[in-house]
Amino acid sequence: MKEIKTIGVLTSGGDAPGMNAVIRSVVRTALSNGLNVKGICKGYAGLLAGDAIDMELPCVSGTLQRGGTILGSARSKEFATPEGIEKAKANLIDMGIDALVVCGGDGTFRGAMALSEAGVPCVGIPCTIDHNIGCTDYTIGFDTAVNTVVEIVDKLRDTSQSHNRCSIVEVMGHNCGAIALHAGICCGAEAVIIPEVRNDLERDVLKNMSEALNKGKTHFIIIASEGVTGERAKQRTMDTQQLAAFIEEQTGVETRATVLGHVQRGGKPTARDRRIGSMMGNYAVTLLKSGASNCVVTLKKNRVDHKDIKDALEITKTINYEELRTFNEIR
Ligand code: F6P
Repeated sequence: MKEIKTIGVLTSGGDAPGMNAVIRSVVRTALSNGLNVKGICKGYAGLLAGDAIDMELPCVSGTLQRGGTILGSARSKEFATPEGIEKAKANLIDMGIDALVVCGGDGTFRGAMALSEAGVPCVGIPCTIDHNIGCTDYTIGFDTAVNTVVEIVDKLRDTSQSHNRCSIVEVMGHNCGAIALHAGICCGAEAVIIPEVRNDLERDVLKNMSEALNKGKTHFIIIASEGVTGERAKQRTMDTQQLAAFIEEQTGVETRATVLGHVQRGGKPTARDRRIGSMMGNYAVTLLKSGASNCVVTLKKNRVDHKDIKDALEITKTINYEELRTFNEIR
């Protein structure tokens, strides 16, 4: 095993609040263990361009509370080719980087697996607001994103109440309904539409609304995950605007659609994202120092652990059924 003297760190894919806490922790842990750190700018695209900076303590000072990623992020198609992996490996050798910490989601981990197989020790840290990584109980950025959604939906409720309207709110999540379900519980929504549950509009959403109308309810919040209403629609052809028109037509309740979009990816990370991000960054450096490679840092039962990337990628994320039951029984 080659001795690790310099660690590279990069953030890839969609940014997530708390990525800076991870970077800061990687840098500070590495430096306090006598290692050098290089920050690779703009993810795998920056790696292919050989775009890296030396990171000393001042680089991460004042970053813990900042959203986004100080290293920048990107999605790179070129990297995911055999030529891309070879070029990345050659650039890492040129830059004197012996091992990599990569922060992102499943696409990022697939890249790390290919690099590990090419002989570069890599450790992945789950950073995505989507909460769609099966091997871990938590992904950095999720808590901040849910809090952002809750804050905005509370505001939408105020105006929905004043006008006796229904608000359909489309949230992010890629292929996962976790943001929608969490926000649904926290905002007292009448219905959530998530990809993990086959929603029958007539049976579920309209029935929930008509039950609520019968109980005297005059305003409604429905939270729909983009996985079932947006471009990646699997179950329906209606987008969120069309869904709002359909609900208005069926119920007679004036309905407005709000697509929250990228606002969910921004903002100061919550204490949870800072704390778990810091712990995962610290653990990743410890793993690389001990000779580990090709693994993903996980949070299991509130403890930081790790799993082989290949095994990790095979685990499908399922919705938390206790949360789903809670939502259904208290809505
Ligand atoms: O994976 C994070 C995420 O924000 C998803 O929730 C969303 O589907 C996607 O990224 C949006 O990607 P982009 O930033 O490329 O529009």
